[in-house]
Amino acid sequence: TSNPPSGDLTTSILHALSKTDSPISSTEVFPDVPFESLKAALDRLASRSMVNYEQVEREEAFLEPEAEVIVSHGSHEARVFEAVRKALDGLSIQDLEKEIGDKNVTKLGQGKAFKEKWIKKDGGLLVPLVETINDVTREQLKVIQEKKTHDAKIISDLKKRKLLRLQKVISFKIAKGAKFALEMVKEETDLTAEMLASGAWKTATFKPYNFKALGADQHAGALHPLNKVRSEFRQIFFEMGFTEMPTNQFVESGFWNFDTLFVPQQHPARDLQDTFYVSDPLVAGKPTATGPDDKQNYEEYFENVKQVHQNGKYGSIGYRYPWAEEESLRLVLRTHTTSISAAMLHKLAGQKDENGRVPPARYFSIDRVFRNETVDATHLCEFHQVEGVIADYGLTLGGLMEFMDMFFGAMGVTDLRYKPAYNPYTEPSMEIFSYHKGLNKLIEIGNSGIFRPEMLEAMGLPKDLRVFGFGLSLERPTMIKYGISNIRELLGHNVDLSFVQKNPAVRLDKS
Ligand code: PHE
Repeated sequence: TSNPPSGDLTTSILHALSKTDSPISSTEVFPDVPFESLKAALDRLASRSMVNYEQVEREEAFLEPEAEVIVSHGSHEARVFEAVRKALDGLSIQDLEKEIGDKNVTKLGQGKAFKEKWIKKDGGLLVPLVETINDVTREQLKVIQEKKTHDAKIISDLKKRKLLRLQKVISFKIAKGAKFALEMVKEETDLTAEMLASGAWKTATFKPYNFKALGADQHAGALHPLNKVRSEFRQIFFEMGFTEMPTNQFVESGFWNFDTLFVPQQHPARDLQDTFYVSDPLVAGKPTATGPDDKQNYEEYFENVKQVHQNGKYGSIGYRYPWAEEESLRLVLRTHTTSISAAMLHKLAGQKDENGRVPPARYFSIDRVFRNETVDATHLCEFHQVEGVIADYGLTLGGLMEFMDMFFGAMGVTDLRYKPAYNPYTEPSMEIFSYHKGLNKLIEIGNSGIFRPEMLEAMGLPKDLRVFGFGLSLERPTMIKYGISNIRELLGHNVDLSFVQKNPAVRLDKS
């Protein structure tokens, strides 16, 4: 038979098998082929049923250097016996040592030869007791050198004597398969028009489908984590009877962002260091109705706001400073979505029935706001605010706390703490804290309060209507949920797109 082409392992395996009807062992036939290449070749052949193979693990015994010396020169005791036998009239211990040339071998071999009753001491000299001996150790080691194994008892004894070391050897037991042949047939992957026309399809071998193959990665669109958390929040709001406010404007006038909220025109929040002002156009027109359904009187409202700030009104003594219309009309990037809440509450006042009663309302929004902050790990110039207002009769501060407990409880945040705070537009105001297990401290999770009467009455809302308001950032719960410590990984130009693609949908642990 011809030699298989070198380098083609599958062909070599087929040729080796063709020479025998019994299985072959890879360690015998392919002792030098690396395990991985052999397995790859066998898998190719096995997938076509050309061979069957199984992996066999066994221990092989290898001689230690001392054992190799025994194989070539004989055991210590045999060498001692041989020296004594050759001397004919007995041998002194000094002469034995000279003869053997190794003190240690002489000592060990002598002891063993005495024990075996091969030699004895006679008048200070060593003399043989037997004609011939059988060097069992040497014979056993010779077998092991060749076969790499022996009886378990012999192996374990020799190993105890530190003459052997055992090593695990993995090999393959390879046998002919059902479709054994000397050559690998080319497998067709497609049925072609040519094959049909020529009739080649009748004899062609087709590659079987691999139904276990994993599909290729799909590059589909993915929602940003902030969007996923946002939709969870929206769901909670809808379940609690809120309607969504239209927040589709980033630019506001100072009037809606600050003045309607009783933020005085000298307030530090209105400084350039805190707020982005628009340079073109610089100012807005005075507020007007937003559509045909908007029956509110904006001129009157504008004037009321001015009066509240400058002179005081509705029982408020006001700030008593000259209120400037130009300041109010300057355009800003909204610093909070409370500007939208103000506009919505003003519209709500326009929905009075004939008894002067406005219906209770619940509004929410989740959208972007802008603040002139120094960017660091937890601050960006823009973030998203979750905002809610509840307008109803007979509301109390305890009711606001109960609502906050329910709202945060719906996303699994419990044991809230409240701290008195200050907002120009709410009185009383409360910061909301929650215990963070990871950080092991209370962290601020929101701001809230009851809107001031001089803000609401200026809009035309009835005296006995109370309005709760609260706001929180969307980024903070998202960072906690996704385990992000740097906000720049979440928003802005440093965001890693694969982070967006790979993150799973979030579930706020609703209770
Ligand atoms: N506007 C507040 C903030 O930006 C949140 C808030 C809204 C507080 C409504 C009270 C009432 O933090």
